[in-house]
Amino acid sequence: MIKTERLHLWALERHDLGKNYQWANDMELTRLAGSLPLPKAMGELEAWYNNLQTNPEQRVLAIKLHDGAYIGNIELRDLDLRCANAELGIIIGEANYRGHGYGSEAVRAMCDFAFRQLRLHRLSVHVLEENERALKMFQKCGFILEGVQRQAFFQEGRYWNVRALSLLEDEYRPLPTQPTLSEED
Ligand SMILES: CC(C)(COP(=O)(O)OP(=O)(O)OC[C@H]1O[C@@H](n2cnc3c(N)ncnc32)[C@H](O)[C@@H]1OP(=O)(O)O)[C@@H](O)C(=O)NCCC(=O)NCCS
Repeated sequence: MIKTERLHLWALERHDLGKNYQWANDMELTRLAGSLPLPKAMGELEAWYNNLQTNPEQRVLAIKLHDGAYIGNIELRDLDLRCANAELGIIIGEANYRGHGYGSEAVRAMCDFAFRQLRLHRLSVHVLEENERALKMFQKCGFILEGVQRQAFFQEGRYWNVRALSLLEDEYRPLPTQPTLSEED
């Protein structure tokens, strides 16, 4: 478990799947997130959750407020310890909680975990070109725009450009108040 000023990031638990089912079937959210890695049927979500328990390449953490409200997920995927890199993904699934700084707070905490605990060298993210809020949020957290992957994603009957960003370990600036990591979870 990682604790920040306003959030707890917990390893996902089985009882969290109900919210994931809602988010996976939220059209606006899946359109913004593009490659939302959540399956849409409950049975498939259960299989996805079971796979997470033994998959060394993916870590999904539930983003919860200190009062327990579950508002989103943040994850490392394609985690490659040999090359020391991973892809970062995030959703604030609950629309009312977007735009309050929770996304950047969770991303900074995950960067801290990735660079200082896992000793990664590079984190990458991919953002649909139309998703200005996600771009701003990642840049606010120090990610550098590498370029645009032309027509790299297909949804709603058309191809979309995707922005690629990354953050390297020597570009990462540790937070003044560092997140605390506990073995509780
Ligand atoms: C993208 C997402 C994770 C960001 O989290 P968040 O908590 O909403 O973001 P934050 O509040 O930390 O930061 C958002 C920033 O974007 C700015 N912003 C909001 N809407 C914007 C817009 N339309 N254009 C440009 N900037 C915008 C905000 O002002 C804020 O910057 P500021 O703190 O300098 O004012 C969240 O909105 C989300 O889950 N969206 C839907 C799914 C998604 O897009 N996931 C990302 C896939 S890569």
